[in-house]
Amino acid sequence: MGQARAQLLASLAAFYLILAVSHVAGNMADNIDIMWGSSKWVTDSTGQQAIAMTLDRYTSSAIRSKNAYRFSRVDMDIKLVPGNSAGTVTTLYMITEGQWQTHDEIDLEFLGNSSGQPYTLHTNMYARGKGGREKQYRLWFDPTQDYHTYTIIWNRDWTLILVDNKLLRQIKNKLMYGVPYPFYQPMRMYATIWNADDWATQGGRVKTDWSQAPFTAYFRNYRATSCTSYQSSSICGEGSTSPRGWLNQELDETRKQQLREVDSKYKIYDYCTDRKRFKNGFPAECMAE
Ligand SMILES: *[C@@H]1O[C@H](CO)[C@@H](O)[C@H](O)[C@H]1NC(C)=O
Repeated sequence: MGQARAQLLASLAAFYLILAVSHVAGNMADNIDIMWGSSKWVTDSTGQQAIAMTLDRYTSSAIRSKNAYRFSRVDMDIKLVPGNSAGTVTTLYMITEGQWQTHDEIDLEFLGNSSGQPYTLHTNMYARGKGGREKQYRLWFDPTQDYHTYTIIWNRDWTLILVDNKLLRQIKNKLMYGVPYPFYQPMRMYATIWNADDWATQGGRVKTDWSQAPFTAYFRNYRATSCTSYQSSSICGEGSTSPRGWLNQELDETRKQQLREVDSKYKIYDYCTDRKRFKNGFPAECMAE
């Protein structure tokens, strides 16, 4: 009797562990809504379903995930606007949908450039409405030639940004020291393409050349693993473990090494070292991790 009961409990536990991690893959149309603009579903040369998102003189474009998540890992494969992409900004971000003054956001923005000049990957975070945590990077490949995978891992302890599974940036949860961190509100994934030629390219000096429009970026293979949908986030209470590993992901030596390499070779701006901007001392989160 006791043994049967224990077995039943064990299998129930296994069952709930599987339920607790919802995994989205496969048909991207089941998980993504086209919001506005002239985006359309296309089948790419490998037979995969992709979204072609375009920017022209009349409209920007946006898509978003059907689900909101509280703690998640999202992966998207993106092929950026080739050629003269100056003035355009292609984005992938997670954002809350409540009041703007207290919103949370995790940002990747790809700032276009003149033909032959490199894109800048601009990253930022907002927590409880406060942003200003910009870091910028060069990529180590041409992001317009092929699809590359861009990932946001958001858990209780860390936010990680990965490019082709290499760690680009990590933001530690320092709520303990009074530094805001996205923690309480669910977020949804968005992707957009828009015109920002007042600032995006070489500080706004290079404008969008509308004779090149429409500008098209391709998105495919969206994957999301979340703790749960936010309605039942209690199932992800403190101490729960994830069979997929990302939920409690810690920085192992490989990740730390990747970060050191990216910092030394590809980082081109870091607010935590911008002395001109912070004459009276750096923000609290800039202290050593
Ligand atoms: C564009 O190219 C110029 C020249 O190589 C570079 O200084 C700049 O950082 C690049 N990126 C952007 C977004 O302006």
